[in-house]
Amino acid sequence: MSEPKTEAGGALGGAWAQARLSERDFERIARFIQDYAGIRLPPAKHLMVEGRVRKRLRELRIPAFEAYCDLVFGPDGADERLRLVDALTTNKTDFFREPDHFRFLAARAVPDRIQADGAGIRRPLTVWSAGCSTGEEPYTLVMVLLDAVVSRLPGFRFDVLATDLSTRVLEVARRAVYPEERIGPVPPEMRRRHLLRSRDPSRGLVRMAPHVRRRVRFRRLNLMEDPRFREPMDIVFCRNVMIYFERPIQAALLEKFWRVLAPGGYLFLGHSETLTGENDRFRPVAPTVYQRLP
Ligand SMILES: C[S@@+](CC[C@H](N)C(=O)[O-])C[C@H]1O[C@@H](n2cnc3c(N)ncnc32)[C@H](O)[C@@H]1O
Repeated sequence: MSEPKTEAGGALGGAWAQARLSERDFERIARFIQDYAGIRLPPAKHLMVEGRVRKRLRELRIPAFEAYCDLVFGPDGADERLRLVDALTTNKTDFFREPDHFRFLAARAVPDRIQADGAGIRRPLTVWSAGCSTGEEPYTLVMVLLDAVVSRLPGFRFDVLATDLSTRVLEVARRAVYPEERIGPVPPEMRRRHLLRSRDPSRGLVRMAPHVRRRVRFRRLNLMEDPRFREPMDIVFCRNVMIYFERPIQAALLEKFWRVLAPGGYLFLGHSETLTGENDRFRPVAPTVYQRLP
């Protein structure tokens, strides 16, 4: 009996569906992503990697993982290596994720930066969302700064830079179109001011309004490299990114944040990412919020 036809094309469809990722190929992939992006893939992630890479096999109509690895790690594999990075990064995010951070930002961090350094008044306040995924975090930052700060201090200026390693999530972030159910955590007043509904309500989509989109500059940036910015950062959000890295890479990243932050600037980490042994560089000021020491 012949195999049923699939969108991948006949018998080939069956081949990728049944292919298995060998230990050797898993290790090739894990070594690459560790060296390139800092992301640790322990053997327990074997099945997850197999599932995610299988989608690439299907899209490329390649019947076996070994052939895929030969392509991706061969001389012509540069483009596919980007796709592999897209497939292996975990991009879960939300509007107003870990909402205490945004309350602290508006009530303590920004007023302190204004007072200590004239940030936002003498010069724009600078904010970096590092590992911004599909944009919910930087757009939340903009909405909070507009409503909690600019509405009271009309001359207040700020600049939000949002970066990620994955080109796929950056495309979604720039488009700024989200299914309606994702905006649940955004307070109704904010939705009215800063979100547009699609003309056809049956599509169930919303888009960040142009005045919010304009406020964010998106850029591809690998945190394994040395970020160089013209101005020091007043605020860095790097949440739920370091959990995927091993300790020495986390330590190197904290050193980079210390270098790009202005003295007295604030670092926000994810709620499971507590700083230990960095007491001479950062002081804790709230749960998983740190202030850069001179
Ligand atoms: C789980 S998401 C977190 C998103 C957002 N910060 C939040 O907390 O909701 C982690 C993001 O970090 C990005 N990432 C992982 N390794 C990276 C690296 N080496 N350089 C830059 N971004 C990286 C991933 O692509 C992913 O979008």
